[in-house]
Amino acid sequence: MKFFADTAIIDDIRDLADAGLLDGVTTNPSLIAKSGRNFLEVVAEICAIVEGPVSAEVVALDYAGMMREAEIVRKIADNVAVKLPLTIDGLKACKALTDDGTMTNVTLCFSANQALLAAKAGATFISPFVGRHDDIGFDGMDLIEDIRLIYDNYDFATEILVASVRHPVHVLQAAKIGADVMTAPPAVIKQLVKHPLTDKGIEAFMADWAKTGQTIG
Ligand code: E4P
Repeated sequence: MKFFADTAIIDDIRDLADAGLLDGVTTNPSLIAKSGRNFLEVVAEICAIVEGPVSAEVVALDYAGMMREAEIVRKIADNVAVKLPLTIDGLKACKALTDDGTMTNVTLCFSANQALLAAKAGATFISPFVGRHDDIGFDGMDLIEDIRLIYDNYDFATEILVASVRHPVHVLQAAKIGADVMTAPPAVIKQLVKHPLTDKGIEAFMADWAKTGQTIG
């Protein structure tokens, strides 16, 4: 399963990339606002750090406006994936951009039927939001299972990008289901390394090593 970082904070992206943990990045208008940075500048900076797909979201709601913004965004770098909302205009833009060789990420997916439409429109990625689904009393992972089944039934090439990931259990469940990608805040990705027995083991080894009075090198 590929790991994308769901952030526009450069230091966090660099940190994960240096550890070899990053296959791509996703941003959205809220994350850009949180970064306090200029949208086009920060996306360009991220694209220079990460080789994989970097999702940058258009904000126009009509087809012509989306295409106008996509034209600007896709010129930033070859690894930009234009992020589009799951609406008819968004799907139209998805088809046009895909046909033109641009990566697309159809976002704000909350049903398997929506995911089916995005695949038919040729989306590179579909982003079902599991956390926001959980928030309103559904099991977001049921949605991922349904999409996996449907995409496999028809051999759709669209990759399932599990979004709105809030904790390590979401990551584990997504991997078990066979999602292609998950995107999570850097803090959640870093949480994956934590295990109390790892910490306890390091502590015990350090204590025993200190008793030897030795140093390495
Ligand atoms: C995905 O592309 C979105 O940017 C993101 O995962 C949304 O997560 P949230 O529901 O925690 O805001």
